[in-house]
Amino acid sequence: MSLDQTGPAGGLLRIIQEQFSLDCRGVHGASHWARVRDNGLRLAALTTAKPKVVELFALLHDSRRFTNGYDPQHGTRAALYARSLAGSAFQLEAVDLDLLADACHGHSDGLMSGDITVLTCWDADRLDLGRVGVKPRPERLCTLAARDPSFIEWAYQRSIART
Ligand SMILES: [Fe+2]
Repeated sequence: MSLDQTGPAGGLLRIIQEQFSLDCRGVHGASHWARVRDNGLRLAALTTAKPKVVELFALLHDSRRFTNGYDPQHGTRAALYARSLAGSAFQLEAVDLDLLADACHGHSDGLMSGDITVLTCWDADRLDLGRVGVKPRPERLCTLAARDPSFIEWAYQRSIART
């Protein structure tokens, strides 16, 4: 799975990749972003989350990681980065930009409550944990749609294949 450099988000993808501190082929790189996007868009069709926010979250949430290891401030940096790009690299209404920033800010804190779009973003990310040897547990997922065993298995198989 790869992200389309020539699609509507292609310009944003290039901007993000150019500033990314880590290897884009790594566990927090572009194939992860693509699977989070796929997970999120599938979930959004079921949860009524806002798909544009979910897609932007997928591209941005790990974009300001400085290490593949413990990096507790990377979500906060991603939220600030998202706000800095809004209005130029992408367009988003203010209320949706707040959702995107909230989703980025809290995505690695194990939180379980919030707006449905934010929760959908977090589940989309957690469903890709198989790439680092962790099978997502239903009780750690926020939405009913993500807790569906068949959804978990679909996402898990893709995550361990890292395709
Ligand atoms: Fe992630």
